[in-house]
Order: sequence, then structure tokens, then C-alpha cells
Amino acid sequence: MNQAELIRALPKAELHVHIEGTFEPELMFEIAQRNHIDIPYQSVEEIKQAYNFHNLQSFLDIYYAGANVLVNERDFYDLAWAYFKKCAEDRVVHTEIFFDPQTHTERGVAFEIVLNGLKRACADAKEQLGISSELIMCFLRHLSEEDAFKTLEQALPYKSDIIAVGLDSSEVGHPPSKFERVFEKAREEGFLVVAHAGEEGPPEYVWEALDLLKVNRIDHGVRSEEDPALMQRLIQEKMPLTVCPLSNLKLCVVDDMKQHNIRRLLQQGVQVTVNSDDPSYFGGYMNDNFVAIQEALDLSQDELKQLAINSFEASFIADEQKQKWIEEIKAI
Ligand code: ADE
Ligand code: ZN
Repeated sequence: MNQAELIRALPKAELHVHIEGTFEPELMFEIAQRNHIDIPYQSVEEIKQAYNFHNLQSFLDIYYAGANVLVNERDFYDLAWAYFKKCAEDRVVHTEIFFDPQTHTERGVAFEIVLNGLKRACADAKEQLGISSELIMCFLRHLSEEDAFKTLEQALPYKSDIIAVGLDSSEVGHPPSKFERVFEKAREEGFLVVAHAGEEGPPEYVWEALDLLKVNRIDHGVRSEEDPALMQRLIQEKMPLTVCPLSNLKLCVVDDMKQHNIRRLLQQGVQVTVNSDDPSYFGGYMNDNFVAIQEALDLSQDELKQLAINSFEASFIADEQKQKWIEEIKAI
């Protein structure tokens, strides 16, 4: 078995994917038409040409504009179902999906419309594709703490449907400390917690996510390498980093995939995982991300297996399930 065949064969868990970032241009056109919403593009080609980013914000502007066509429960269902079909192709057997309720509630779409559409797709994915999933609700960090508290209130009746809260959107200028109290309340209510930190933001933001938000995982975290004491902390605590290689390349967090630090982080003992972030915008789903780093960094088969094992170790699934998948990986 060569490396590409191994990547396809490995069972994998995805821990960092924004459902709004899986919105393929074809589906965007279809949903815009059926909802009679104008989008500023004439064709799928034109949409794809707009996907030329120079930093996180230049991407977010386009990503939020795309999400504007999502209105009905069926739209959220279709969006998630399309993603689950990609998971099946890539042997992603478990996924923990971010959604951004404020992107939709701000436009007058009810919280339960979003959640019900996603939940129904998750149930069908389990039944028809054998894929398990969880939902993670993210607060938009460019909005206020008060707004985040309102969103948390809306989520409380659906506690059993949402495993964790997260923090995403424009990082620089919106440190984790801005959300310390709302994360404390979320933890008291029984949610697990994760946060984007150290993507564009400095290592200090990763420290804050650990010390103030008390996260279970760091999303991205690649800039942690700049701070040796932080690296020690991550290694000692076995703190997972959900790394997104193609995202880092497309948003110019790295200039060249050959310079990506995921292999160095792995070799130093950080629990790194591979994820797609916003696959429709960044040029690939799970296996595309694996192939991109394998080719650029010449990863061995043992390293590829370790990355797949890490994805289950770092996941929020029950220990018994974790062990089952890890055994299967080791036996390949
Ligand atoms: N929202 C969607 N993708 C994101 C990313 N890579 N960083 C921050 N917020 C996001
Ligand atoms: Zn992300």
C-alpha cells in the first residue's frame, strides 16, 4: 500500500470543520435560486475566482456573504448532507461540526431552524452512512460578549444536541479574554469548550484560551511554536491542536506547504490532528489535506497513522469507540 492508498484506507475523525465553510458553489447557486436571493456572481466559475484570499478577514467577508442564502431548515439540511457525503468518500467516520448561529440569527433566521436542519442531517448520516457526529456552536469573536451570552441562552434548551461551544471569526484584536465569562457559564452548563487561537493571533491568545477559557482543544494553534514554554505546556497536557493545512496555505498563515510546521509539532509530541476547516473555500476536504502535507513534508506511513490515531484521541467520542477505531488503524 502506498501513502495515497493508506490515506484513503485510514478511518479518520474530523474535529475542525465549519459547516458554512463546506458550502459548494453549485449548491449555493441552487439554494439562492430557490430562495429568490440575489448573489453577486453570474456563474460557479465566477464564485471560484473570488476565492483568492490574502488573510483571514478577506476570506471571512466572502464566507459570511455566501451564508446569506441559507434561510430554511431544508437549506441547512442540504448543506450538512452534502458534507456528510464527502466524509463518506474520505473515510471520515466521525465528525465534530462547527456552526455559527449568529451568522444566521442576525439575519432573522431562527436558532431552531439552523439546529433542526443540521440535526436531521446528522441523524441521517448515522443511519444511512454510518457516520457519527457532534455539533459545536461557535461564538463570533468580532461580536460582543453580550451577544455571545444571548446566543448561549438560545442554546440552553438544546443542550443535549450541542456537545461544545467554540470561538471563531476575526482573531486579531478579539482575544479569548473578551469571552472569559461566557465560556465560564457555558462550562457550568455542561458544555465542553474549544477555541480558535494562534491561527493569525499570537501565542498569548493560546495561553488565554488555556488559562481563561479552559479549553479542551485548541483550534489551529500553529503559532504556538513561537513560544517554547507554551510548547512544553501543550505537550505535557496532551492538549490537542486541530490543524488545517490547506486553510493555513490559502489564508497565507504559511507561504508554502513545505514550510508547514505540522510535522515538527508531531515529532515534538504535540497532539496534532488534520482537518479541512472550510473545504469548499480552501481547495479540499480531509483526504486532500492529508495528501497535501504528505507530499510537501514527506510523511511516513507511521506518521500518517499517528495523525489518524490523534484524531480519535482528541475527539469527544466515548473511550470504547475511540479504542475500537485506534485498534483498526493499528491493524492496517
Ligand atoms: N470561521 C470559519 N473559518 C474560520 C477560520 N479559519 N478562522 C476563524 N474563523 C473561521
Ligand atoms: Zn476554523
